Amino acid sequence: MTKKTIRFSNASVDYYFAGGLFLLRKIIDQKNAVLITDENVFGHHQSKFKGWNTIVLKAGEEYKVQVAVDAVIEQLIEMEADRKTTLVGIGGGVITDLTGYVASIYMRGIKFGFVPTTLLALVDASIGGKNGIDVGEYKNMIGVIRQPSFILHDLIFLDTLPQNEWRNGFAEIIKHAAIKDASMFRALEENELTFYQKKKKAVCDLIQRNAMIKTKVVQDDEFESGERKLLNFGHTLGHALETQYELSHGEAISIGMTYAVSLSEQLKGFKQKERVVTLLEQYGLPTYARFNRDKVINVLRMDKKKEKDFINFILLEKVGKAVIEPILINKLYETL
Ligand code: GLY
Repeated sequence: MTKKTIRFSNASVDYYFAGGLFLLRKIIDQKNAVLITDENVFGHHQSKFKGWNTIVLKAGEEYKVQVAVDAVIEQLIEMEADRKTTLVGIGGGVITDLTGYVASIYMRGIKFGFVPTTLLALVDASIGGKNGIDVGEYKNMIGVIRQPSFILHDLIFLDTLPQNEWRNGFAEIIKHAAIKDASMFRALEENELTFYQKKKKAVCDLIQRNAMIKTKVVQDDEFESGERKLLNFGHTLGHALETQYELSHGEAISIGMTYAVSLSEQLKGFKQKERVVTLLEQYGLPTYARFNRDKVINVLRMDKKKEKDFINFILLEKVGKAVIEPILINKLYETL
């Protein structure tokens, strides 16, 4: 286990890399904790929850909504959770987002921590403090930026991770490589999904490297006035497609990244489009898709990254170097 304490603007977060769920008893007081998980994680790992107060939610992005928040709050009241209670989200991005959000509003804010169980949550969703819920077709429309007290890794959860969840995680890993780390991009090109699925050490190193890429970006710009926007590479179109076409997050942002590299080619003279598209396909991700541009542009008009008639689009100058490009929404419509 490696412990790192990361300082954000008004909070410190303890990262326990290559740890284990057994450490939870050492990090928090079992009597003053409530674990929040979903039916999938609970079903596969029920014995790990023995002795802990636990709330089990239905699994899936469609449950990252206000009714689920209300249901958790009602259960917390029933359990007599108070301001000394720590909430621990054990699951993928839906569970970490929801837990962080509930903890931020329950009794005006209580402590929380995460045990991310999916590759995507390990490298992305558990990090950065953005926690919230979806409203209809608008993803993450309601939420907060508030850091967890700790993030505890236990890679045993990857043993039961479905194949599509591996691909989802790799979409964010490829994103990090494309915007920030050309040497990791090359390493990914040299390997494939099955290599990381078989080699625990390789996936463990990859997870830590990605967690630290995201952490560094967030540390430099926690409230997203500049640099943090780069993490939205592939996400602008991706989020609009995800809610409209019931794609997984990884599939949606993979299509979003493909579109963003085409736009990068047109507007920034980006010359490595085929490398990005090939890498996404190498990791089993979709790249091109047919969609209704009117439907998608309507969602984009409500995007949080929109400023007046412009939307901040993330483009690549080269692999490992991303830039923010404000693009007129009407112009975007023509290029879709
Ligand atoms: N919770 C994910 C983020 O802060 O970006």
